[in-house]
Amino acid sequence: MPDRYDLPSGFRWGAATAAYQIEGAVDEDGRGPSVWDTFCARPGAVRDGHTGAVACDHYHRYPEDIALMKGLGLDGYRFSVAWPRVLPAGAGAVNPAGLAFYDRLVDALLEAGITPLPTLFHWDLPQALEDRGGWLDRDTAYRFAEYAAIVADRLGDRVPAWITLNEPFVHTVYGYALGTHAPGRTLMFEALPAAHHQLLAHGLAASVLHERRLEVMLSNNLTPVEPASPSAEDAAAAAAYDALHNRLFTDPVLLGRYPDLRALGVPDDIYGAVRDGDLDLIHAPGLDGLGLNFYNPTRVAAPTAPGLPFELVDFPDVPHTAFGWPVVPDALRQLLLGLRDVYGKALPPVTITENGCSVTESTDPDQPRIDYLSAHLDAVARAAAEGVDIRGYYTWSLLDNFEWAEGLFRQRFGLVHVDFATQKRTPKASYAWYRDLIAAHRIRPASATGG
Ligand code: BGC
Ligand code: BGC
Repeated sequence: MPDRYDLPSGFRWGAATAAYQIEGAVDEDGRGPSVWDTFCARPGAVRDGHTGAVACDHYHRYPEDIALMKGLGLDGYRFSVAWPRVLPAGAGAVNPAGLAFYDRLVDALLEAGITPLPTLFHWDLPQALEDRGGWLDRDTAYRFAEYAAIVADRLGDRVPAWITLNEPFVHTVYGYALGTHAPGRTLMFEALPAAHHQLLAHGLAASVLHERRLEVMLSNNLTPVEPASPSAEDAAAAAAYDALHNRLFTDPVLLGRYPDLRALGVPDDIYGAVRDGDLDLIHAPGLDGLGLNFYNPTRVAAPTAPGLPFELVDFPDVPHTAFGWPVVPDALRQLLLGLRDVYGKALPPVTITENGCSVTESTDPDQPRIDYLSAHLDAVARAAAEGVDIRGYYTWSLLDNFEWAEGLFRQRFGLVHVDFATQKRTPKASYAWYRDLIAAHRIRPASATGG
């Protein structure tokens, strides 16, 4: 049963969400439009024409949602702040009602004994900034730092640790390279200036947060990359993919340099985006914790057609989630050990800031999710026992929510079921399982692995 996980004392148990996926209320209290509002209105962009206009209506129902978190016994709650609520035009005039919402949310969380862990950017860029080039425009990084200062000045007296960006890899590749997410650009590798500008935004905001004596994390989507065969061609393809998905977003922050991108055909200055001094702006502020979002490993083969220098292939003989993602829990342990091996002393303490799986609505009693979470927590505990400094685990997600291009009903990641017609919340079997796990961990004597 639950208490078998041998995790360090002080380990923080949490759950995660993101603004556009749960808040709704997109036109209320002065919020400006975001790229996701625009993208959802594009015919065919989101499955069944769904949008985040109402989502879980969390903007109004947050007290009920915090009661659900309290029922779980969470230590921490990771949510994101919607930039277009705070600055409807992305820059310039602050919207007091937008800031007031996060002020109320933070107070209600603290009242419930839950530490707020805000993410400043989870993909909902103000449309006004997109109209000026979005993340392809260097100025957006400076606007982000200004926005970070405004939010930190309002909440920093009660919120000790902050995440700057969520998954710049996914945002760059889906949003700017492939166009399956907002803002729907299809630039392929020429999307990578958007990655550099996000990293620059992270660095500038990290300085802003450190000036205010706040802790800074960055949440990266990382995946262990395995070659499909022992051939030299597959190994080269795997290395190229690893540079793109993992090292491009972690090396500049932890090591102050970009990985070798030549195998991708990308110039060293990323199409002119990298200027003198930028890597210092990204690296020098340092990182107090690395946020790790993990869903699945990746298998890569040499390309069979011209175009990309790699081809993604499936994992045979493993279970797959409702999304079709391979379930390989030990890959999380390998990833954590790999981070320690690659970055050594440059690796700050790690917090798992997302991990979870989608399960189809009809699945009863939610056993695939319990199996997924339990096996991944096992992998976390084994990596901790092997010496990786891991401070906490935030499951994705508290609630079923707006799953981006997949819309509302199909990919259900929540511990709590949401009926999107009535907004009724119903805890699933995984909710009870997680609650019991947290309670069992709390009453255990402190473990020998330290804290
Ligand atoms: C400005 C930005 C500008 C940057 C140029 C900053 O001081 O606020 O708007 O993009 O300098 O590197
Ligand atoms: C994102 C979440 C998303 C989850 C499941 C992560 O990439 O940060 O917003 O819902 O994966 O797809």
